[in-house]
Amino acid sequence: MKLYVTRDYEEMSLKVADIIAAQMILKPDTVLGLATGTTPVGAYNSLIERNKTGSVDFSSVRTVNLDEYWELPSDHDQSYRYFMDHHLFNNVNILPENTNLPNGMASDKDSECRRYDSLIEELGGIDIQLLGLGHNGHIGFNEPDDVFYKGTHVVKLTESTIQANARLFNNSDEVPRYAITMGIGAIMNARTVVLAVSGSGKAKALRDSLKGPVSPMVPGSILQLHSNIYVVADAEAASLL
Ligand code: F6R
Repeated sequence: MKLYVTRDYEEMSLKVADIIAAQMILKPDTVLGLATGTTPVGAYNSLIERNKTGSVDFSSVRTVNLDEYWELPSDHDQSYRYFMDHHLFNNVNILPENTNLPNGMASDKDSECRRYDSLIEELGGIDIQLLGLGHNGHIGFNEPDDVFYKGTHVVKLTESTIQANARLFNNSDEVPRYAITMGIGAIMNARTVVLAVSGSGKAKALRDSLKGPVSPMVPGSILQLHSNIYVVADAEAASLL
């Protein structure tokens, strides 16, 4: 595990973008595993800038996102498809057909989960997976549970996640209660993982993930077993390490 502690969110974002850009330069047809949420926005902005100046090229990149809300239409401004289009895809030279998220509107959720796992396999697995960390230690929407789920699955969001995400909706009642998430298997099979963490509110989750016992009650703790992981945390997030 390589740990970078940065001064602040801006420096964290640049470091995350550096690592992703390096991967894209070395392998132009990289399979990029992406995350939504507040944490990656700065890194996405930096990648957009680098794409504008020509230092990174998305024309052969394929992407797979970690998760999507269940039964939120893709044109809803809080859907993760909408987020990705607005925060990254519409602003870089990526082919829309090369971008993938779970389909939260699929009528048959089980076959959608299987489709997503097959897709990741057909792409040859994920070269580099960007992760944020939930306040409860979740990665993707793999919430604290009795077991680690290997494959893509439908998950009931915990109250802590619903409250954390309510800031983006008009109120917490509007936050979907379920999501489809990539499982721990695809995340752990990614050839490189980048965990980005910012702010004092994440300090305990980061400490429990990196220093606590490996347990499905702290999903991020499984990352201790990944052989090629970069953790990029700002000083506040790293304060309990
Ligand atoms: C998002 C995702 C989540 C977030 C986590 C942190 O696709 O999978 O695990 O990374 O909830 O969210 P933020 O960055 O908003 O604090």
